[in-house]
Amino acid sequence: MNKMPVLQCVSLAKSYNEGPVDLEILKNINLTVDSGERISIIGTSGSGKTTLLNLLAGLDSPSGGKVLITGSDLSELKDSAKAALRNQSMGFVYQFHHLLPEFTALENVAIPLLLRTGVDVKTARTKAQFMLGRVGLEARSAHKPAELSGGERQRVAIARALVTEPALVLLDEPTGNLDQTTAQSIHELMLELSMQLSTAFIMVTHNMELALSMDKTYQLESGELKQVN
Ligand SMILES: Nc1ncnc2c1ncn2[C@@H]1O[C@H](COP(=O)(O)OP(=O)(O)OP(=O)(O)O)[C@@H](O)[C@H]1O
Ligand SMILES: [Mg+2]
Repeated sequence: MNKMPVLQCVSLAKSYNEGPVDLEILKNINLTVDSGERISIIGTSGSGKTTLLNLLAGLDSPSGGKVLITGSDLSELKDSAKAALRNQSMGFVYQFHHLLPEFTALENVAIPLLLRTGVDVKTARTKAQFMLGRVGLEARSAHKPAELSGGERQRVAIARALVTEPALVLLDEPTGNLDQTTAQSIHELMLELSMQLSTAFIMVTHNMELALSMDKTYQLESGELKQVN
């Protein structure tokens, strides 16, 4: 097992310059996530959870501090190297699935593989079909997102996030848009897959019950991250 943490962030800070005032959203965030570890982040609306995930993903630049993904400092990477690292090591699941409407479920799941160099279409389709099976959608592979239910779309999004077997998946309210029963079953499915693939999860949620089922729970408040469970 690789001993290097999947993610480290050190003294991470983010502020927005809003006219005369500096909006300090994140102040001094320190977080280490080990291989296969699943953590949740809770916090009131506007506390900076999505801002934090965007920094961890390298989609936004911090005002201070740094983020290391599997040992690589994001600030030292060019955009192309950052994109490659994201494709190689990270997966994403959002509240709304962000599937491409013109493509089938199978194609949506295959896309992260096709973005990699050296992966042929046949291999990508085979892996994508396998992953769709893992989320219980083997019979839905030819459906476009509009022909799927909300929960099914979210499962396709999970299959897409995990198909590359990334070291880390960032989830921003992945079940926020679903009824409690579906949310619970999708949550359990994600935990099961993360265990099988030893994928680390950082999940933002407003659902306290789901939050507390992770290995650790952190709360974001007044720009600071504190472990609460
Ligand atoms: N580009 C931006 N420019 C200025 N302020 C921003 C920008 N993006 C976010 N903010 C502010 O940063 C704060 C944190 O926003 P963020 O989206 O991270 O909150 P959140 O915790 O994810 O909330 P929610 O639970 O509602 O999704 C908010 O007050 C928001 O207005
Ligand atoms: Mg948010």
